[in-house]
This record gives sequence, C-alpha cells and structure tokens, in this order.
Amino acid sequence: MINHPLSELLSQTKFLENIADQYGTPVYVYSKSRLEENINRLFNAINKSFNNYQIYYAVKANSNIQIIRTLKNEFNDLGCDCSSPGELFAAKKAGLDMSDCVYTGNYESLEDLQIAYDSGAEVNLDDLNSFKRLETIAVPDYISFRLNPGKGHGQFKGIITGGKNSKFGIPKETIVEAYKAAKESGVKRFGLQCHAGSSTLDAKTFSDITNQILKSAREIENSLGQKLEKISIGSGFGIPYRDEEEPLALEQLFQNIKQTFTESYGQDDSEWPTLCVEPGRILVADAGFIISKVTGIKSSYKQFVGLDAGMETLMRPALYGAFHRVKKIGHVDEEDIIRYDITGRICENTDRISERYKMPRMKEGELCAIMDSGAYGYSMSHNFNTRPRASEVLIDKNEVSLIRKRETIEDLFRGCDV
Ligand code: LLP
Repeated sequence: MINHPLSELLSQTKFLENIADQYGTPVYVYSKSRLEENINRLFNAINKSFNNYQIYYAVKANSNIQIIRTLKNEFNDLGCDCSSPGELFAAKKAGLDMSDCVYTGNYESLEDLQIAYDSGAEVNLDDLNSFKRLETIAVPDYISFRLNPGKGHGQFKGIITGGKNSKFGIPKETIVEAYKAAKESGVKRFGLQCHAGSSTLDAKTFSDITNQILKSAREIENSLGQKLEKISIGSGFGIPYRDEEEPLALEQLFQNIKQTFTESYGQDDSEWPTLCVEPGRILVADAGFIISKVTGIKSSYKQFVGLDAGMETLMRPALYGAFHRVKKIGHVDEEDIIRYDITGRICENTDRISERYKMPRMKEGELCAIMDSGAYGYSMSHNFNTRPRASEVLIDKNEVSLIRKRETIEDLFRGCDV
C-alpha cells in the first residue's frame, strides 16, 4: 500500500496480533495521532484563507465519545454537527459546549425537536414544515434552513444529497419563502446550510456548490433585508480509498471558496458571514481500520475468503459498492497472489467486503486489516443475524485503550421479555 498514513502501524505485526488476542476480532482500531493530524490539516487549510470560520465535526461518521474527545482536545474551537438525540448525547459527553453544536435533522419528530431545542444547540431545519413543528415548541432567536441547490455530488448514487431525487433540504426556488415565514413568526437572526453530497475528491465541486449557496444567500438577504450570520457549506470532503487516488487539495479548495466569498461579499472579510464546515469522513476515515480474522476459505465457482467481519461490521461495500483495501497482517508472499471474493458470515449474498480482490493467499486463522473504516464503520454497523457489535480500541503511540466493549449476546436481548 503506497503512502497510506497508517502503513507504519500496519507493519507492526506483533503489536496488531496482540490487539487481536487481547480484544478479540473483529475489532475497530483507531490511531490517535492520525486523528490529530487530520483535524490540524483541515484547520490549517481553512485558517490560511478565512479569519471567521467554525468547524463542526459530523458525529454520524463516528460517534465514539473518545474519538470526539480526541478531536476536541486537539482543536479546542471544535463544534459538532449532530443529526439525532443520540449524537447530541455523544457530543455532550465528549465535553462539547452545546452552544458550539448544530442539530441538523430531517423529518424530525416533535420529540427530536424538543430535545434539540432544549440542548441549546443551534437548529438547522430541513423544511418549512420542520419550522412549523418547532414553532409549536418554541421560536428560537436564530435558525438556519438547509438548501437543496438543485444538484448534488458524491462518489455513489446513494450518498448524493442534493438534486431532484434528494429527500433533503428546501429547493432553491422556494427557500426564500421559508425564511420570510420564519421571520414573520419572530425569528430574528439567520444562517444558511447546504450539504449536497459525500466522498468527493474534486476541489472544484465545492466552489461550484458554494457559488450556488451564495446565490441563494443573496436572494434571502435581499428579501429579508438583513444579512445571514453563517453560511455552512456542509461537507462531502473525500479521502483516497485506493492507492492511485490523490487526497483532496484542501488549501486550494478553501482558496477557491474564499474567491467566491470575495465575489459575493467584497474584499472586506469582516463583512462576510461565518464560513461553517461539517467534516465527518475526512477527519476519521483513514484513522481507523478493522482487524478481522479469516474464519473460512472456500474454493467454489469463485475463491472465497470468509472473515469474522462482514456487512454487519462494515456496511459500505454492500450498501453502495464502496471499495476498501484489505491488507494481510504478517508475512506476505508477493509471488502467491489470488483474486478473492472477501465475505463475512452473514446470510445474504450481498455480504461482500470486496469482489475479485487481488491479495496474498490467506489461511484460516490469519489476520487482515480492512482499511479506512474509521468513518461510517462502527456508526453504521448493525446486528443482523443477531451478531453482537465489535469492540473499538484507540492507539496512542504504543498504548492501546479499549474505548468501547464488544457487545454480548445478552446485551442484544436486554430489552426483551425472555
Ligand atoms: N453534514 C451533514 C448534514 C451530513 O448529512 C453529513 C453526512 C455530513 C455533514 C458529513 O459528511 P462527510 O464529511 O462525511 O462527507 N454513509 C455514507 C456517507 C453518508 C453521509 C451522510 N451525511 C458513507 O459511508 O459513505
């Protein structure tokens, strides 16, 4: 694997074998130093172009409290973007001040809205009807609405969140009406948010989307006769999942966005709204991998490697066709390479981590690492086939700490009448 940020850690066979022995497999492993590097890289890139900005970590990518805490400890101004009462809970437990957090839901129940409002987080609303539901609870001084800019972007169809097929946000043609109605109901200050897709590696996409957001912002400001205080461009910042992919050019990206802000609001950046971003993947994805054990090798119409981590542990390949590198841990014979379908133990034929994937010959009992699973790994894991969820450990230099215990079968039935 050329240049993966965790290559050095992956080469420490004995260390990884000890983790597997001590904590069992599958186990999600996170590197503290990589988490710290990631938040610093993003902060430095924004800080080069903007004076007035806010970074909200998208908790949905990985809601482990120690992961959020690690990011917060490294970058004290961090806020969180939360999409459920559970994510608000995690952010609060991690030590975030709720006034530094934003709640972006969709089709929120009254209970969700009540919890979001009571938490003290800002509320970002997906629709005028969301506002009308919130109004039955309270009218906050400040709100933002989520824009659907009419088109979206993203690596897979399933993670494009803007455009005509999107369930999110308010169409650009009607969003002004939502602001007018909220102002009439007594809201005093406003922001605008848009998150149009995910896992994009092309910096230009973000300036195109920002252009559209700022166009809508001007219409809203003209119609309200007041300035928007914050503009959130959401996220969607991709990472290289393959050897041949290049990381997103973050500094260039924020320079481009600065250019669009200058064109819209002029040279004097004290007149600009606060730029907000909501990164998830780019902060945590490449800081984590899953150590998994080979439980069965099968030679059928295809060659199969069966792991103890399947679609219940990493849902992304089955759900979107996402690609994750899988690396053998330990000795590799470069001469003995096989094309494997890598699967798990789940009773679904879509249970694949990878198809026709070239890797060294594997034997039962050997270990491998499923790379880049720090984002949308554990947070999308589930219990199908009544499999308990795996444990999570955080590595700080040579120290390993258990940051979430493995679930037990008893845990799964705790709420049941047995
Ligand atoms: N803000 C909002 C409002 C979001 O809905 C999301 C992700 C983010 C920020 C963070 O986006 P990111 O930085 O991670 O691109 N499960 C999919 C990704 C779905 C993302 C949904 N929203 C995956 O595994 O690729």
